[in-house]
Amino acid sequence: MHSTAFTRHHLFTPPPCLSARHHPSLRRASTVRMALREDGPTVAVVGVTGAVGQEFLEVLSQRDFPYNSLKLLASRRSAGKQLPFQGKTYTVEELVPESFDGVDIALFSAGGGISRELGPIAAVKGAIVVDNSSAFRMDPGVPLVIPEVNPEAMSHIRLKGRNGKGAIIANPNCSTIICLMGVTPLHRHAKVVRMVVSTYQAASGAGAAAMEELKLQTREVLDGKEPTCKIFKKQYAFNVFSHNSSVLPNGYNEEEMKLVKETRKIWNNDEVKVTATCMRVATMRAHGESINLQFENPLDEETARQILRKAPGVVIIDDRELNDFPTPLGVSNKDDVAVGRIRQDISQDDNRGLDLWICGDQIRKGAALNAVQIAELLL
Ligand SMILES: NC(=O)c1ccc[n+]([C@@H]2O[C@H](COP(=O)([O-])OP(=O)(O)OC[C@H]3O[C@@H](n4cnc5c(N)ncnc54)[C@H](OP(=O)(O)O)[C@@H]3O)[C@@H](O)[C@H]2O)c1
Repeated sequence: MHSTAFTRHHLFTPPPCLSARHHPSLRRASTVRMALREDGPTVAVVGVTGAVGQEFLEVLSQRDFPYNSLKLLASRRSAGKQLPFQGKTYTVEELVPESFDGVDIALFSAGGGISRELGPIAAVKGAIVVDNSSAFRMDPGVPLVIPEVNPEAMSHIRLKGRNGKGAIIANPNCSTIICLMGVTPLHRHAKVVRMVVSTYQAASGAGAAAMEELKLQTREVLDGKEPTCKIFKKQYAFNVFSHNSSVLPNGYNEEEMKLVKETRKIWNNDEVKVTATCMRVATMRAHGESINLQFENPLDEETARQILRKAPGVVIIDDRELNDFPTPLGVSNKDDVAVGRIRQDISQDDNRGLDLWICGDQIRKGAALNAVQIAELLL
C-alpha cells in the first residue's frame, strides 16, 4: 500500500525520470545581486578561496546582502589572487590582525586555528564574527545559532553602528544544522527524548581539496590506476568509511559528538539523548541523514507531515508510489533541507517514534547560507 499523503511534490508531479538535480519541490536560490549600499556594513570574508568561502560570495550575492565594502581574505598563498565578483575584480589580501580594522561583519571559514587566533581580535576591534569552525561552538558565552531554530540566542548582539560591540556567533556543524532543520519542528510539537542519527557525508564537508581528490580518484580508479590518497587515508571513490575526524576514548568520533553536544546547546536541553554514527560516502556536496526519533508525546506521521510542510527552510519529498525521496544530488545548490521517508517507527508503541531521511546541501545550509542568515539577523 502506498501513501496518499499530500506533499508539495504532488503539486508539480514531475515525470518519473526527472533528474534529481531539477526536483521541483526545492527552492532555487534567487538571482538578486548583492547590494553595494552606503549604509551597509563593511563585510570581510575570511578563507574566501575555500569551499565555504566561495559559497559565502555566492550566497551574499544571491540574497542581496547589503554592504558598503568587501574584504576578501585568505592565507599568504592566495594573497594577490584576483577574484571577479559582481562585475568588479577584488584582490585577495593576506589575513592579518589589521585586516579587521573598520570591519562590521566577519564571516570566518579558514579553520579552527585561525578562528581561535583571530576571531577574538576581530571581535575586540568591533566586528561581529560569524564563525564556521568548531572553535567556539561549545563556549557558553558564544551563541550557537540556526536562524530558523534559535534566533533568540543572539538577540543581545548588535552591530557597532547600532550601539552594539564586537562579538562571536558560532555556526553549528553542518550535520547538526541539517538534522535540526527537520527535527526541531517535530520536537516543538511532541518533544524528542531520544534521537539516533546516521549520516552519509559528502566530500565537500572536508573542503575544496577533498572534492578535488574525489574527482581525481574517480578518474584514476576508472582508468585502473592506484588512487591518490592525500586528504583521506583511504580510497574514497566508490567507497564508504567512518568519518575522518578523530576517534575519542569513548569510541565516538568528533563529528558524532558534535551532533550530541550541539543539539543540547541549540535546544537548551541537556536531557535529550542523542547518539550518532557518521560516515563519509563518495558524494560531492550534500549530506544525507537517517534519523530515528523517540517522543515524549504521541506524534503520528500525518501530523508530522503537516508540521514539516509549514516549517521554514524545509521541503517534503516523500512519494512512496514513485519511490521518490530526498537525494544529495537533488538538494545540491539548494537552500532548503529536504525531508522524506517519513514513517511511524513500528518498534515503538503509541505513535511515539518516527523515522526520517533528511538531505541538505552542507556547504550552503550547512555552512555559508546559515552564516549569512545569521548576519542578516544583525541588519
Ligand atoms: N566544508 C564545509 O562544508 C564546512 C562546513 C562547516 C564548517 N566548515 C569549516 O569552515 C572552515 C573552512 O572549510 P572549507 O571546507 O572551506 O576549507 P577549504 O576549502 O580547505 O578552505 C580553507 C580556507 O582557509 C584559508 N586558510 C587556510 N589557512 C589559512 C591561514 N593561515 N590564513 C588565512 N587563511 C587560511 C584557505 O586559504 P588559501 O586558499 O590561501 O590556503 C582557504 O580559503 C573549516 O573550519 C571547516 O571546519 C566547513
